[in-house]
Amino acid sequence: MNIQFLDAATPSAERLVARLVNQDAMPADLEPVLAEGAKQSRFTGKAGQVFEGFAERDGKVVRVVLAGIGAASAKDRRAAIEKAGAAIVAKYLTSGETALALDVTGAGLSAEETSGALLGAVLRSWRHDVYRTKLSDEAKPSLAAISVIGAPDGTAANWDVETAVADGVAFTRELVTEPANTIYPESFVARCEKRMAGTGIKIRVLDDKEMAELGMGSLLGVAQGSVRPARLLVMEWMGGAKGDKPVAFVGKGVTFDTGGISIKPAAGMEDMKWDMGGAGAVAGTMLALALRKARANVVGICGLVENMPDGNAQRPGDVVTSLSGQTIEVINTDAEGRLVLCDALTWVQREYSPARIVDLATLTGAIILSLAHEYAGLFSNNDELAAELTAAGDASGDRLWRMPMGPSYDKMIDSQIADMKNVGPRFGGSITAAQFLKRFIENDTPWAHLDIAGTVWTDKPGATWDKGATGYGVRLLDRFVRDTLEA
Ligand code: BES
Ligand code: MN
Ligand code: ZN
Repeated sequence: MNIQFLDAATPSAERLVARLVNQDAMPADLEPVLAEGAKQSRFTGKAGQVFEGFAERDGKVVRVVLAGIGAASAKDRRAAIEKAGAAIVAKYLTSGETALALDVTGAGLSAEETSGALLGAVLRSWRHDVYRTKLSDEAKPSLAAISVIGAPDGTAANWDVETAVADGVAFTRELVTEPANTIYPESFVARCEKRMAGTGIKIRVLDDKEMAELGMGSLLGVAQGSVRPARLLVMEWMGGAKGDKPVAFVGKGVTFDTGGISIKPAAGMEDMKWDMGGAGAVAGTMLALALRKARANVVGICGLVENMPDGNAQRPGDVVTSLSGQTIEVINTDAEGRLVLCDALTWVQREYSPARIVDLATLTGAIILSLAHEYAGLFSNNDELAAELTAAGDASGDRLWRMPMGPSYDKMIDSQIADMKNVGPRFGGSITAAQFLKRFIENDTPWAHLDIAGTVWTDKPGATWDKGATGYGVRLLDRFVRDTLEA
């Protein structure tokens, strides 16, 4: 989407004009026929409402769309504005219209709010049509440009920042959407190298041989049933003060999860192409941070493997030795995410001594039973970190709900033969998974685990996304970095 800022409308050019309308405050300069039409359609400017009408301006018929943004005092004002921008784009993306004028004159928005409307618009315009060879002309996106009219001072500068976030979300959605025959550990790395070239991100890659030498027996045990070799991808963005310990973001990157020998049922197994959603969110966040030149030191780590059943696959009951030295009895090869993350967590602590660690993983189906698709689960050993992440979630719309942890849950993963087993009893599955990861956090380093299994993919369109990959996590982590490292 091409975005430009104009001081005033160029009347002859406009065929489609959108206005953002505050609740019960119809713009005074609107043609009476539009104002009356909106009223008759019960449009009041409530958040989420959209009205379309036509007016004659300078002898031409102009399509005018009104999008409600609710009351100025509403608690979720920013989200309502984003949603309005998104709703306008959803309506016209494939309408045949190629350009839209977004007239915010008189709407009383700040620069941040105005670029929020644009962020909603751009996020909602994202599609992944690379595999569609037979799209009819009517089904192809037509809307390619938005001119913003009457934006307050500072909007363009603010948009420079938000557009970086939109690019990060788009990259995450692309990685999550791509099927497992195109995205596997090596190609995930290659895509990141290509997309991040020239951004200032430093990329390091450990291959399977290097990981074997280091002793990452847990991560490699998952990968050994696949012909696709594992990778550990490391992305460094050191935009902060020299010598400041980085924050580490660690992502589960299971590029396909069949379950391994503990194989999953066939129905719905295609969803497991997005079992790399944590790694995707970490990669998109790193891109966003670099594109907006964040003044923060951040390292992103992706543990990349494919979980397949095979003659060489690991078996239920196998005992593996993790990089930390702790041994793990693999009761269920489908509880593989934690086996990948634990070695990535140990590695990042040894290599970078991070100040704080946040891991993201599509770790358990159980978190979807607990929270549906509304919140991701938050588990932490540190109240301050948990509170800051929760606040970033509320502010960004990528919401988090804190879940309990404790010694009684920890006991549930004790093993008879090894230091721990990779699954507990049937109940509390998301919590025992978090307890497993906690055993790999050294010296009480502030750490949080985000179980995002319910939020990376959706069967129905949402506020700023269509069906499919949501890009969950990028806005959350970007907001977290802004408010905790750059404030
Ligand atoms: N990737 C899955 C979790 C998942 C399930 C994500 C459904 C999204 C939707 C994970 O690797 C897994 O298989 N977890 C098991 C754990 C169980 C074996 C203890 C689960 O949740 O069933
Ligand atoms: Mn699994
Ligand atoms: Zn998995």
